[in-house]
Amino acid sequence: MSLGVERPAEAATPAEAATPDEAATPAEAASLADGPPVVDRLPEAGAWLHRHLLDVDGLSWPDVELVLRTTDAMREVLARPIAKVPALRGTNVTILFYEASTRTRVSFEIAARNLSADVTNIAVATSSVTKGESLIDTVKTVEALGARILVIRHPVSGAPYLAARHFSGHVLNGGDGWHAHPTQALLDLYTMRATLAGAMPDAPVRGGRFLSGRKVVILGDVLHSRVARSNVWTLTAAGADLWLCGPATLLRGFEAWARAGAGGAADRRFTATSDLAAALRDADVVMALRIQQERMAGGMLPSLREYAARFGLTAERLEEAKPDAFVLHPGPMNEGVEIAPDVAAGPRSVITDQVTNGVAVRMALLYLLAGSPGGEMTLGA
Ligand code: CP
Repeated sequence: MSLGVERPAEAATPAEAATPDEAATPAEAASLADGPPVVDRLPEAGAWLHRHLLDVDGLSWPDVELVLRTTDAMREVLARPIAKVPALRGTNVTILFYEASTRTRVSFEIAARNLSADVTNIAVATSSVTKGESLIDTVKTVEALGARILVIRHPVSGAPYLAARHFSGHVLNGGDGWHAHPTQALLDLYTMRATLAGAMPDAPVRGGRFLSGRKVVILGDVLHSRVARSNVWTLTAAGADLWLCGPATLLRGFEAWARAGAGGAADRRFTATSDLAAALRDADVVMALRIQQERMAGGMLPSLREYAARFGLTAERLEEAKPDAFVLHPGPMNEGVEIAPDVAAGPRSVITDQVTNGVAVRMALLYLLAGSPGGEMTLGA
């Protein structure tokens, strides 16, 4: 059953969908001749109230479930011969990345195009940023050029929050410094849910916290990881028994956070440890993290070789986990350092699924944000 796509006035609706005359290819025209494509099984309109997505710390569990359900609907769109719906037709999505990226940038671009948005990609290296233009002036400039949704990555923690104060549309954080990577955490959660359900792409939405009773380990350079910080919120919200593991120098500050729990909540405590064997024992899910040499001050690790020898995720070490445990990595990987090549490419790896799911999750988030109230500031909440 098609629920159609109900939208506030500023966004496109199925009634405004492309017609066969507007199709780019004969195949697209044939598809459009049967009527406008719509997103099926969409959650109820108006359920998403957040104007921006700056981190996951302000999302309630029903918000997270809404993202997961909307992602299910987007996966159905992606399974079609023509994976395109007109939901964001006429909406400009500007992608402004001040840091290198492959997965996040490209998947946001594909996601926006799949929703029929107009996409503008700004390469900072060839923009007026190199002439000294400030972040605020850049944001105001892209808005004046028509941007309605701004996807931003920045090496400085908090930069997307500053951008959101000066942008009248919607801001999506594509990763800021060590602080947050909300879309990565949501795609990681979606991948865990789908893998545990064992039936991608139609994993059923289970009510409640589907990681309850599951041990999830995040292993590696936790200190510099915005992925780990955002995952703490979503994984504990999903009920996981979460363990963060790495050398003591790369866990600093996390022990206190672990004892207090995410948001200071007793039922969202987690474990921070350098005991690799204890962390991996009977794990259901293991996520390896890249050693971020570009963010690392001297003296944190004796050498990459020693890190690999003591903390690298090898097939032998993975034997400590449950037999059906699976492995994630947000990428990019340093194979042979934090993860052995045979583990990264092995049968337990769902790393490629993470990348694929990134498109559907980002389609869902673009869709939800475009339909959210746009008047008031709700930074990260
Ligand atoms: N996981 C991640 O953010 O990858 P990119 O840096 O390639 O976007």
